[in-house]
Amino acid sequence: MKILYSNLVRNIDKIVSKYRDNGIFVVIDSAVYDIFTDCIESLRATGIRSVYKLVAVESTKSIDEAVSLWQWLGREGANRQSLIVNIGGGITTDLGGFVAATFKRGCDFVNIPTTLMAMVDASIGGKTGINFAGLKNEVGVFADPKWILIDTDLIDTLPYTAKADGYAEMLKYGLISDSDLLRQTYDIDLENIDKKLLSGLIKRDIEIKQYLAKIDRYDRNERRALNFGHTFAHAFEALAASRKIELTHGHAVAWGMVCELYLSVIHYKFPKKELHRLHSFVKEHYTAIPIGCRDFDEIYAFMQHDKKNTTNTINFTLLEDIGRFHCNCKSSKDEIYEALEYVFL
Ligand SMILES: NC(=O)c1ccc[n+]([C@@H]2O[C@H](COP(=O)([O-])OP(=O)(O)OC[C@H]3O[C@@H](n4cnc5c(N)ncnc54)[C@H](O)[C@@H]3O)[C@@H](O)[C@H]2O)c1
Repeated sequence: MKILYSNLVRNIDKIVSKYRDNGIFVVIDSAVYDIFTDCIESLRATGIRSVYKLVAVESTKSIDEAVSLWQWLGREGANRQSLIVNIGGGITTDLGGFVAATFKRGCDFVNIPTTLMAMVDASIGGKTGINFAGLKNEVGVFADPKWILIDTDLIDTLPYTAKADGYAEMLKYGLISDSDLLRQTYDIDLENIDKKLLSGLIKRDIEIKQYLAKIDRYDRNERRALNFGHTFAHAFEALAASRKIELTHGHAVAWGMVCELYLSVIHYKFPKKELHRLHSFVKEHYTAIPIGCRDFDEIYAFMQHDKKNTTNTINFTLLEDIGRFHCNCKSSKDEIYEALEYVFL
């Protein structure tokens, strides 16, 4: 897998041309289609056979949409040597990557992430998949794209909340890896982004994810550092989905990290001032999730279904300090409820 951080239109031509004879198939988020019209038109000569536009909402990451994509590929004559180009945020790269990895037992694919979330996280690390039976990312495969093309100018059209989603994962990289990276990440002003600083941080975040995914591809030990904040986050997302409340992954992660820092203080004496800093930051920049004490039992039940659990216990990544993480940690039900109380009541 290779990552390119330069002009994507110029580079994509070189990358995709070897697939000309077997066909290039573009899966694109309809929200960014206009931005890519010229690029797609200029690539028709290079072998783009067909374009599939999707509406990127969480319910699109479904088995029905995957079936529709497999049918489209079959109908349009794709074969195992074809190339699938996924253009969009995490919904598009997760779904498009899953479809590419399973069609004819696996085709090559390229990701062009268009959200900050997909640049720093979703398009990297080989996890692809769909939601199933009301559970997030319940079905999927590990598969790496051949190329990832990152162009930070693509985030210019993102609304503030979507930038904040990706930024939550950037804060996570700082918290799990080093205080200098965390400090520089807090320095980013999402209303007025310093692109040079952002590009440098994205590169460092990607290196961290690639390193952890390399030493622990199947997410059993060290890679679980990346799950920091996510045990609570996935439960919040499941709760929101069951109540038809809109909640993005990044916002859930932001609040989930505060809860898991609270557990880190209890278990590992993580510095309280960093917990308070993150809590104030999240309160200021992220929409509150409407959670009251009557929701705690349901959140706890969703946590018990988390894929990271090995036996019947709920699994967390907790921090001893910035950059010092412990994977596969347990916490009692009382501690989990206490964290929810601290953060939401
Ligand atoms: N595979 C992984 O390792 C991994 C990691 C993190 C998140 N994810 C998944 O990624 C998804 C979230 O990703 P996301 O936040 O990128 O969401 P997304 O794909 O839904 O994009 C967010 C919104 O922004 C719009 N959009 C995309 N690019 C845009 C642009 N350049 N300008 C304007 N609007 C644009 C989309 O249409 C959508 O409405 C979740 O399903 C999550 O589970 C996967």
